[in-house]
Amino acid sequence: MKILGIESSCDDTSVALLDCSEKGCFVLSEKTASQIEVHKKYGGVVPEIAGRLHAEKIVPLIEEVLKDQPKPDIIAVTAGPGLITGLIVGVEAARTLSYTLKLPLIAVNHLQGHVYSVELSAGQKIEYPAVALVVSGGHTEIVHIPEAGSYKVLGATKDDAAGECFDKVAKLLDLPYPGGPQISKLALAGKTDAINFPRPMIKDNNFDFSFSGLKTSALYWLRDHKLAAVNPTILGKIFSWMPSKLGISTDPITREDFCASFEQAITDVLAFKTLKAVEKIKPKTLVLAGGVSANKKLRECLQKNISENFPETKFLCPELKYCMDNGAMITVAGYYQSQKNNYTNWQDIKADPNWHLNF
Ligand code: KG4
Ligand code: ZN
Repeated sequence: MKILGIESSCDDTSVALLDCSEKGCFVLSEKTASQIEVHKKYGGVVPEIAGRLHAEKIVPLIEEVLKDQPKPDIIAVTAGPGLITGLIVGVEAARTLSYTLKLPLIAVNHLQGHVYSVELSAGQKIEYPAVALVVSGGHTEIVHIPEAGSYKVLGATKDDAAGECFDKVAKLLDLPYPGGPQISKLALAGKTDAINFPRPMIKDNNFDFSFSGLKTSALYWLRDHKLAAVNPTILGKIFSWMPSKLGISTDPITREDFCASFEQAITDVLAFKTLKAVEKIKPKTLVLAGGVSANKKLRECLQKNISENFPETKFLCPELKYCMDNGAMITVAGYYQSQKNNYTNWQDIKADPNWHLNF
């Protein structure tokens, strides 16, 4: 069965055609137009600009993906959650294709798409019950998935998403958008214990998160301290060297130390709460997905803890290219919905920017 998937909920217009059967889903053709270079100038995604760029790109992308390919049997599209300006573009394109080509239509929840992104790697299949940590620029949720297609949110962020926190703190350091990959790159060369950032809500007896306090504490730290210069002048080098010669401890905290300590704080909270959910649910699979799942420290931390403490649970995360928003993951989710005859009429489909993953 050939399924065309369309994703436009944030700053990537992405279309994919997959061949899906009980053997799995295989990508026949896919194309993504990223808007990052445009939004970078503003330090974050500007919804009006995002909508306009999705509208410019969606038809050429669909044409490119379908070129020299078999006609799809089904259309799947992200209907929410996300930015309404982008969702509308994808939903209208899918609705039009469904009507003109007389194809069944499937409305996919974006977060459900992220969960299924792990199945885009050969041989990776979610076994149920599963627990998923979906962590991106807009979401941070721990989800219990008792069986395919049924989702119960155990906990979520009360304020900023983890990716948003990475992005905002990166901005404080004058790093370009999106900040997550920049921080994790710098963190590789830093000391994780250089700054003792708070681990918000880690002791609370629930699965919820809060990241705005962590962001504020990063802001206050930068207000009250000075990071070691990135490219110190000769004079600066002499001055940083002199106090140690005089027996005065300086040990200035570098930008790398700051990033490593900050990344460690976020990782500790995400991993602690996720492992608590694993302990409670005892799932067959733990899924880590969403843009922040590209973070090496988080992937390694969960992998290590699962294999040491919960060997009966299998840990799955997506290939790096499928951590970010993409049409292929929406297509896989669409395939599973088609197996349950979960279609939506083209007249009835609606973009829902606040569509909760509780169904
Ligand atoms: O899933 P996604 O592409 O879009 C949303 O649905 O939000 O996620 C984008 C988010 C951004 O906040 C970005 O900074 C974050 O994922 N991200 C990372 C890394 N790569 C992307 N955060 C931490 N470490 C990374 N390596
Ligand atoms: Zn996403």
